Amino acid sequence: MTPQELRQKLDENRAVVLDALAKAKTAEELAQLKNSLVGKTSAISELRSVVGDMEKEQRPEAGQILNEAYEDVSGLYDNRLKELIAEQNLNQQKDEVQDLSAVISATKSFSQSIKAGRLHPITQMQWRLEDVFCAMGYTVVEGPEVESEWNNFGALNFPLGHPARDMYDTFYVDHGEPQSTLLRTHTSPVQVRTMLSQPPPIYVVAPGRCYRQDTADSTHMPVFHQIEGLVVDKGIQFGDLAGTIDKFIKAIFGNEFKTRLRPSYFPFTEPSAEFDIFVPETETNNKNAGKWIEMGGCGMVHPNVFEACGINPSEYTGFAFGFGIDRLAMMEFGIDDLREFWNGDIRFLRQF
Ligand code: PHE
Repeated sequence: MTPQELRQKLDENRAVVLDALAKAKTAEELAQLKNSLVGKTSAISELRSVVGDMEKEQRPEAGQILNEAYEDVSGLYDNRLKELIAEQNLNQQKDEVQDLSAVISATKSFSQSIKAGRLHPITQMQWRLEDVFCAMGYTVVEGPEVESEWNNFGALNFPLGHPARDMYDTFYVDHGEPQSTLLRTHTSPVQVRTMLSQPPPIYVVAPGRCYRQDTADSTHMPVFHQIEGLVVDKGIQFGDLAGTIDKFIKAIFGNEFKTRLRPSYFPFTEPSAEFDIFVPETETNNKNAGKWIEMGGCGMVHPNVFEACGINPSEYTGFAFGFGIDRLAMMEFGIDDLREFWNGDIRFLRQF
């Protein structure tokens, strides 16, 4: 066989592979084809054995042609697999949204009829936030609390040694390379996971526990809850971010509450802002009545983050925001000491 003939055979194989990739409808189905498309039993592997029978001078060229064909076909395979996984995740998320509302209404009527246990105040606050965002068309997504350094920092544009890492008093987990695994310090790694697993448009919120080394006192705990929002779409602007924040604060607390943004810095957003809410004077049993209070961070997704997550920043823009759920729950339920949430005292919990 000559290199030209080899090239032709590989071109024919490429067409066969493309056809098989298009026909596979699930990631499992595709994974079963892996061996025959790019593995030991594939045409490329078989063709490798003909190199030995070629003229000596032709062998390096043939080897190179085979390597290129292998890179090409395995790239096609990987992309299709990613695509199918993203599709499956999307479908699963859709199902979860439905489950969530079913659980909320079931729980409500259940606890009203018989005085059984009830949801923890932080869970109640989290579910209310999820409800508001679901009504705005967002999907709820979750990620693990033990994260890779890459998802928590690297992909979010905190290069190794970046001073912004010091803002997060990170708990590292003794696993793999030193400092490669950690307890997530914020919910932002779920942004990375979401962008890597599904194509835009993306409208998601990610609630969950986060960890930072902190001494427990009335306003700090080493474990706390955040909710993260991420929007990625064509033509998203800073005004969309400001409007979204204002809408959900009004939906949660009422139309008299106001919001404002102040310039700030986060490595993964540019421009970045801090957002505050104004508690109206009429909220007489709220100790913050008449005051602006700090709520969380937000900004436009940094192009470096899009690039790390395989999204083209000249095609898409987006915003993200994140804030603590515990502080909101303290405000909503009039609780002065954060530690109350963790005592598990039934007399405390029964009040909510
Ligand atoms: N992750 C940031 C923090 O915990 C908050 C944030 C989220 C800021 C999204 C901007 C955008 O400090």
